[in-house]
Amino acid sequence: MQLEFQFSTPLFLCTIIPPLLILILTRLRNSHVSNPTKLPTSYPIFGSIFIILKNKDRRVQWISEIITSTPNLTFTLHRPFGYRQIFTANAANVQHMLKSHFHNYHKGDTFRTTLQDFLGDGIFNADGENWKFQRQVSSHQFNTKSLRKFVEHVVDKELSDRLIPILKSAAANKTVLDFQDILQRFTFDNICKIAFGYDPAYLLPSLPEAKFAVVFDYALKLISERFNSNIPFIWKIKRALDIGSERDLKISVKEVREFAKQIIREKKQESPIESVDLLSRFLTGGHSDEDFVTDIVISFILAGRDTTSAALTWFFWLIYNHPEIENEIIKEIKESTSSEPVYDEVKNMVYTQASLSESMRLYPPVPLSTKSAVNDDVLPDGTVVRKGTRISYHPYAMGRVEGVWGADWAEFRPGRWLERAEKWSFVGRDPFTYPVFQAGPRVCLGKEMAYLQMKRVVAGVVRQFRVVPVEESLEPVYVSDFTSKMKGGFKVMIEERIDA
Ligand code: HEM
Repeated sequence: MQLEFQFSTPLFLCTIIPPLLILILTRLRNSHVSNPTKLPTSYPIFGSIFIILKNKDRRVQWISEIITSTPNLTFTLHRPFGYRQIFTANAANVQHMLKSHFHNYHKGDTFRTTLQDFLGDGIFNADGENWKFQRQVSSHQFNTKSLRKFVEHVVDKELSDRLIPILKSAAANKTVLDFQDILQRFTFDNICKIAFGYDPAYLLPSLPEAKFAVVFDYALKLISERFNSNIPFIWKIKRALDIGSERDLKISVKEVREFAKQIIREKKQESPIESVDLLSRFLTGGHSDEDFVTDIVISFILAGRDTTSAALTWFFWLIYNHPEIENEIIKEIKESTSSEPVYDEVKNMVYTQASLSESMRLYPPVPLSTKSAVNDDVLPDGTVVRKGTRISYHPYAMGRVEGVWGADWAEFRPGRWLERAEKWSFVGRDPFTYPVFQAGPRVCLGKEMAYLQMKRVVAGVVRQFRVVPVEESLEPVYVSDFTSKMKGGFKVMIEERIDA
């Protein structure tokens, strides 16, 4: 038996591999002829690995091109060893997943086990009762009173004490700034104050390396490599052997969690706890288990840090390239604010809100989001979903559907979101056509907070400064881990407006 096996395996491989390779090479050469819909060809065992690898540096754009070339805006990607993932930009499918059949589409085991080491059971990584409980307690952090406090105490302070002085100095000294980095520092300080009541002081003129921010970033980068790995079990083997990126991940996650726990211990010493951050809310509600509150706080930092900074980075690039829109924004800022914009005034800046929404349509901070099917199902467009299949809706592709946005979908045109009678009013789109903040029961908890924060930053910066890209002629490259970024940063010069 043994002998027969040893003899027959190489014989089998010699017989099967060469014809398979010939088939793959021939199909690859002819793919442009036989494949008008851009659907990737799939091969036994290998799936579509070759074309996946070919497009690994432009995954989001590549998937978007395929989705938008299909008649029902949906396709299935075949990864090696039979792993499948459905991608959709079909609004009816999105509504089905996120709302009408919400209970059939969970974060799921793949998502949870991949992120567990970093996020534990935090809201971002939880399903069922645990998710419901965290959502309920956290939602108080986002009521009108808390939002007003956030804008007036946290955002305004960071703006006037840190961001504006840095921009003033850059304008005076003609320094080149990486505006993406500056905005990330801004939102990192903001989110730490909301989540912990802690100020990491990451946005300082010296642009310091705040240890917490650096290890948080590194852990996030490594964990997203797990997600993007084409053969998922490889990271598990590396983790079991404690080698390479998995070893680095273990070390950086430990540092992040230790840091968070230290803050929690200090907070517990406060008596009584009077702060209004999220951590205090859980602690005063009697939920003092250190691991549990650490999980919650880390999820919030992940959800709120790079999202608003990504949105603002692309926004500033777009308005520089559309001076007529920038002028309209300046007009609105001047009309709706006295000298310094406060909560109510910022809230009513509809033209700016439209410009931000339009910017996120083209460059969504979260380009796609993935769920897992609990049971077999059929989507509204007829796509069959097997139990356990991963299914991603794709806001980046959804912002590029001609049938939805018109032939001028590639144009940055805030007017799509506005109606004008005596003055502008904002016309929102249904959240399944524009799921930039997700939709349904798990819609982003921070959506309103994010808009307020972004509008406040826009009002504060645009009123006083012009943000001028150093490389004016080039369109920056959109890249993404969990959240999107401008590849290589956003190098700018700052000009102070004389008529401010
Ligand atoms: C422009 C800014 C933002 C965008 C585009 C955005 C987008 C999203 C998206 C797409 C999700 C769903 C992710 C998924 O489950 O796959 C989400 C969830 C969430 N976001 Fe945001 N977000 C933004 C800002 C914020 C901010 C500032 C906060 C908090 C301060 C926040 C808190 C959350 C939370 C807690 C969840 C999880 C909700 C749940 O699962 O029930 N977000 N966000």
